[in-house]
Amino acid sequence: MSDITKKPRFTHGTIERNAFILLVLALIAISIGGIVEIIPLFTIETTVEHVKGVRPYAPLELVGRNIYVREGCYLCHSQQIRSLRDEVERYGHFSLAAESMYDHPFQWGSKRIGPDLARVGGKYSNDWHYQHLQNPQALVPESLMPRYAFLATRPIQIDNIADHLRTNVIVGVPYTSEDIAHAQDDLLAQATPGADVTGLMQRYPKANLVPGNGRTPTELDALIAYLQVLGTMVDFADPSTENLQQ
Ligand code: HEC
Repeated sequence: MSDITKKPRFTHGTIERNAFILLVLALIAISIGGIVEIIPLFTIETTVEHVKGVRPYAPLELVGRNIYVREGCYLCHSQQIRSLRDEVERYGHFSLAAESMYDHPFQWGSKRIGPDLARVGGKYSNDWHYQHLQNPQALVPESLMPRYAFLATRPIQIDNIADHLRTNVIVGVPYTSEDIAHAQDDLLAQATPGADVTGLMQRYPKANLVPGNGRTPTELDALIAYLQVLGTMVDFADPSTENLQQ
């Protein structure tokens, strides 16, 4: 029989008393945890699943998005529908990661003084948005939303749109050289009634045409083009979009 009163030479106590051994063993334990978490990320091409229909913003939508950011609409509106039943019933299908993959920066927001806007596209007519943004209380008397009538008097800057697209390319948005070459035409086509929109629609399916009245598009036109595309790119009726991750 072995002598149970004899102490083993290397015990947990040894590790706790020797700072160097403790450090080495702690580093080994942390590295294993790190490897298990990090290595799988190298084997997948991207952590965001590509979903059919999601495309970069059309030039006019991109300008509208910049105005949305500039005006701080995200301070009152989120753009992220959670997979909770009340949200899905109120706003529609929960937001997919892919739906904001071309947003730099994303507009998920953290406040909902007004409703979530992730799927506001197509919910109202262009006319409704023109009136609502200029004077929300005319349509929703109890609304807390500020008036943005000044946007209708401010023409947007058109000559630097190609640079906006190029800047987005730097952060990973896949605009092609053809998209960049046609940026100005596409921008104007989306806001000019009667314009030839074949190229625009090929490059940016589902782009919503706004009535620009033949003048230079205003900031309001651009903002509405942006609002009307929100949440409309993915066709959730298509069975191949089932079982998507959030
Ligand atoms: C001070 C908070 C606040 C700010 C800032 C704000 N909103 Fe709102 N918004 C609201 C509230 C409250 C409502 C709900 C009442 C209404 O429809 O006016 C609303 C409603 C809306 C709706 C209708 C949504 C729906 O589903 O019915 C849209 C679209 C909208 N806002 C767009 C914008 C845009 C674009 C901006 C920035 C230019 C903006 N809002 C800035 C508070 C705000």
